Amino acid sequence: MIEHVLPAAAAGAETTADVDPSAPDFLERGALAPRTRRPRLTEFATGRSCARTALRELGAPAGPVGRGPHREPRWPPGIVGSITHCPGYRAAAVARACRVRAIGIDAEPHRPLSPRMFARITSAAERRELAALPWTGAHVDRIVFSAKESVYKAWFPMTGADLGFTDVRLSLDPLRRRFVVELPAPFAPVRGRYAVACGRIVTAVAVPADGLR
Ligand SMILES: CC(C)(COP(=O)(O)OP(=O)(O)OC[C@H]1O[C@@H](n2cnc3c(N)ncnc32)[C@H](O)[C@@H]1OP(=O)(O)O)[C@@H](O)C(=O)NCCC(=O)NCCS
Repeated sequence: MIEHVLPAAAAGAETTADVDPSAPDFLERGALAPRTRRPRLTEFATGRSCARTALRELGAPAGPVGRGPHREPRWPPGIVGSITHCPGYRAAAVARACRVRAIGIDAEPHRPLSPRMFARITSAAERRELAALPWTGAHVDRIVFSAKESVYKAWFPMTGADLGFTDVRLSLDPLRRRFVVELPAPFAPVRGRYAVACGRIVTAVAVPADGLR
């Protein structure tokens, strides 16, 4: 799925099978607390394994991908990227910083959000616009949630700042499976794509290297 949502300048890797966190090539074990439980170790190790596969795909050195104080992945110099996991699925995407300023990806189960959550993550104007879209059978509320999480994963490494769900405005094109998100100044709107398959939604956004307004 990941290849359907990434721009040409990015490389991605995904898996539905977890790696063994006791394997010697789990280079980032030390980034997690010593008592981290096995499910989280497995999720983290599999995300990092996807990250290294994506780095190799890009032709970049596939060394350890560290972890910053706000849980953000620490990519090798000159690389930007993003990692996601949801039950039964892990993925990573990377690009060269000279071509892409930031990238964010997110995967979610293809299920409706609770109405309360949907109200929390959207403005009244967004909800009006989304309600008027043609029906495609996809859970638009969950797509919006995932798209905004992707935006956050691109935004945070760029700015080091928080971003609320209603600090941005999202417009969706369900026929082309694309979306546009207006960010706070000085950032120009970012474009993203989504895919729905196998009971999952995957979204991705990429901020171009010249992505200022
Ligand atoms: C950061 C956040 C988006 C991650 O959500 P999640 O449900 O854990 O999503 P996923 O499982 O798909 O992704 C987790 C991965 O995101 C990445 N991530 C976590 N924090 C991050 C950050 N601050 N910046 C960039 N990437 C981050 C990590 O790689 C993490 O995996 P890892 O810990 O195994 O390395 C979420 O926890 C959050 O804080 N959301 C609120 C902010 C938000 O989304 N605002 C919307 C603005 S429009």
